[in-house]
Amino acid sequence: MIQHRRIRDAVVLAACWSIALFEISAHGQSTNSDLSPLRDLASQCGIWIGPAVAYGPLIGEAIYADTLGREFSILTPENDMKWAPIHPQQFQYSFDRADALVAFAGANGMTVHGHTLVWHNQIPSWLSSGSFTRDEMIDILRDHIHTVVGRYSGAIAAWDVVNEAVNDDGSLRSTLWLTSIGPEYLDLAFQFTSDADPNARLVYNDYGNESINAKSNGIYDLVSGMLVRGIPIHGVGFQLHITLAGINLASFAQNMQRFADLGLEIYITELDVRMQLPVTPEKLATQANVYAEILKACLAQPACRAFQMWGFTDGHSWVPSSFPGYGAALIFDEAYQPKPAYDALAQGLRKCAPVGAATAPSFGSANGSRSLGGAIRPLPLAY
Ligand code: XIL
Repeated sequence: MIQHRRIRDAVVLAACWSIALFEISAHGQSTNSDLSPLRDLASQCGIWIGPAVAYGPLIGEAIYADTLGREFSILTPENDMKWAPIHPQQFQYSFDRADALVAFAGANGMTVHGHTLVWHNQIPSWLSSGSFTRDEMIDILRDHIHTVVGRYSGAIAAWDVVNEAVNDDGSLRSTLWLTSIGPEYLDLAFQFTSDADPNARLVYNDYGNESINAKSNGIYDLVSGMLVRGIPIHGVGFQLHITLAGINLASFAQNMQRFADLGLEIYITELDVRMQLPVTPEKLATQANVYAEILKACLAQPACRAFQMWGFTDGHSWVPSSFPGYGAALIFDEAYQPKPAYDALAQGLRKCAPVGAATAPSFGSANGSRSLGGAIRPLPLAY
């Protein structure tokens, strides 16, 4: 109860801070007075913009919450909706952290991208070392999805239903899910999610799939088959954990187009652009250009719905621990100062429409005019 009260207080405080900051900038008194927040600019382009978010700094660092609430229109829980954190024991769920992130989003007029319902990593040991029959695994999957998705039904715009299920050669990755259930686990996961929240956009998410290659061909075949079978799938996610070398933009554009031609939405889900340390002004300029080019590719594709990054401050990023020697992959530095990549995104977004002409976002169809899910129901702040 005390814990809940603390979270509630923190969330309320964060909302007040964001409003206060916004008012300061609206009156032109802050150092950022010449800049509209990215979320306002992105809304004019008809896309969501936002980062993966970690609970620790959200609760512990006021400037983290301020920046998040001010700049972004969507957040993805970086870890707190994965199986191990949210479902640590077979008959026990742990929702506090996920609840706090969803409540923060609601209090700040943001939506949420849920991550993730089926993955081979961060699985609790009761599941990975249990010996369950195929039918039991299907029941476990159904119960988990119904419980988690049902809890946040209406508050989450899009779900990464299945994450990283395809190998580089295009075949299905050998995971707990594939070996225990068989390839039908994908159809089942999407169907269970749709049953629990018929209005959420359901996404297949992966990495290394941005170009036309064996992996993206495998994903193309996979999702095409699902569509033929009438499985509810609405989008494909491109993680885009990349380096200063960037990506093949022409191939990315062609690739997005073939998925859009299937009637699917495109989500840039986890972009970060890492550099070998130390940071130099030249590397920051190259990084800004990579960010700008990917944004441009998204804006040029009418089915592209979201430009999402795997964090926003270099002070909290998975890169240094996952890619030793690399870092500085995000758009704010460790002191929460906007980097050249931030300015490049703002500049790219400003091309959509004059600032001040934003309209309330609403849901649109994949290939229709670009529009966003706006009516996101905030969770109550008190639990
Ligand atoms: C990462 C988190 O950022 C880390 O904190 C965690 O230790 C491991 O997972 N692709 C994904 C994300 O889909 O869930 C991963 O997140 C990064 C790669």
